[in-house]
Amino acid sequence: MLTAEDKKLITQIWEKVQGCQEDVGAETLTRMFVTYPQTKTYFPHFDLSPGSDQVRGHGKKVVAALGTAVKSLDNLSQALSELSNLHAYNLRVDPVNFKLLAQCLQVVLATHLTKDYTPEVHAAFDKFLSAVAAVLAEKYR
Ligand code: HEM
Repeated sequence: MLTAEDKKLITQIWEKVQGCQEDVGAETLTRMFVTYPQTKTYFPHFDLSPGSDQVRGHGKKVVAALGTAVKSLDNLSQALSELSNLHAYNLRVDPVNFKLLAQCLQVVLATHLTKDYTPEVHAAFDKFLSAVAAVLAEKYR
């Protein structure tokens, strides 16, 4: 459950990601593919070399979807319903992978935002990503 303070921190930190969305997305995916190579199996049709057009394009989409989620913190289930369907029914992504992506995104955010990514922001953002992952996985039941 996100508190009012969590929501404030999440919204504030997300503003600082504007302007480097594509970099953040691409670096997150690259980090995930290198650190957890099993995640590559979902992207057999992609050129997964770091910085490829497909990695950048997909990174941008993922970060944009998270931006939508940040704008809908009181209504995540509804805001991400289509994506939840897609990941559960079409892509059949094993939900364990959402945690791996979340982990990589947090490292990338910490690297980009340095001092601004305080432990309090980290904690709030971790709760946010867990909530997003729960919604993306809820259709699997
Ligand atoms: C597609 C978001 C996690 C695998 C997508 C799309 C978005 C998205 C926005 C594009 C949908 C469209 O084109 O209509 C997210 C978010 C995630 C997440 C917000 C978690 C925070 C994952 C994970 C995996 C994954 C963990 C697998 C390791 C895929 C694949 C596609 C896709 C294979 C289709 C790519 C293509 O063929 O273009 N995701 N995703 N996603 N996602 Fe995710």
